[in-house]
Amino acid sequence: MAGGFRSAVITGASRGLGAALARRLAGPGVLLGLTGRDAAALEAVAEACRARGAEVRLALLDVRDGARMMEVLRGWDAERPVELAIANAGIAAGTRPDGSAEGLEAFRAQIEVNLMGGVHLVEALLPAMRARGRGRLALVSSVAAFRGLPDSPGYCASKAALWAYGEAVRAGLAGSGVEMTLVAPGFFDSAMGERWEGPRPFSISAEDAAARILRAVERGAAVAAFPWPLAWALRLSPVAPARLVDMLVRRVAFRIRGA
Ligand SMILES: NC(=O)c1ccc[n+]([C@@H]2O[C@H](COP(=O)([O-])OP(=O)(O)OC[C@H]3O[C@@H](n4cnc5c(N)ncnc54)[C@H](OP(=O)(O)O)[C@@H]3O)[C@@H](O)[C@H]2O)c1
Repeated sequence: MAGGFRSAVITGASRGLGAALARRLAGPGVLLGLTGRDAAALEAVAEACRARGAEVRLALLDVRDGARMMEVLRGWDAERPVELAIANAGIAAGTRPDGSAEGLEAFRAQIEVNLMGGVHLVEALLPAMRARGRGRLALVSSVAAFRGLPDSPGYCASKAALWAYGEAVRAGLAGSGVEMTLVAPGFFDSAMGERWEGPRPFSISAEDAAARILRAVERGAAVAAFPWPLAWALRLSPVAPARLVDMLVRRVAFRIRGA
């Protein structure tokens, strides 16, 4: 069990980072609320968490469905006040294998899942956390939030929007007793990672990423951006001449298979 949290909710817990976070948070006396859409994969993660002593609630839901997110997350909060909620579910489209741009449908889907999925989680749980004067929220964005990349405009836009939304909410939480950590991972191994064809500098395991995120959440960090060389290069890029950065990012060509 990480961080001593007695109850946590994670979206997109059926695999990858979400599953690693769930396993790491699992322990005796912990109640986990896990969401995803793949029933078998979600059940396998739940089983691993139960084996570590946690009690688990599962919900098959699409994070784009705000009404259902409210219903399920508020139901779990009523059963036991949620101490930590992590908006992790995400998708990545990008350029097609023939090099043509992602379609409008894929662009919209990324905004709906990556941005609105996070907004739905916060909207569902923040009012009760505020009322209790206690709670932790984490939004999983990406280092792609810090600089638009030519091969994934929709993904970068959705993650940048989630980042800006999170900054706005976090700034308004001062003195409320609720903390929010904005998470910007670089590359880590997962189903999403495997679909990426191109350089993946400083790539780490999903378990390592989960450990770094939970350490940051435990200490109430405002930001968890890693690995630092990649995160800081991209975070500082707006102060460099724009055309120079455009030229540099054009060299980072990649494809996202199955997009
Ligand atoms: N992998 C990387 O290198 C990397 C780098 C930076 C940031 N990230 C971010 O980290 C997060 C986790 O990524 P990952 O690599 O672990 O991805 P992944 O292996 O593809 O897993 C994504 C998770 O999101 C869920 N999901 C996707 N669409 C959903 C929807 N509409 N409704 C509900 N759940 C949905 C999936 O569950 P179901 O399929 O069961 O619905 C799955 O559990 C994402 O936000 C991603 O953008 C990843």
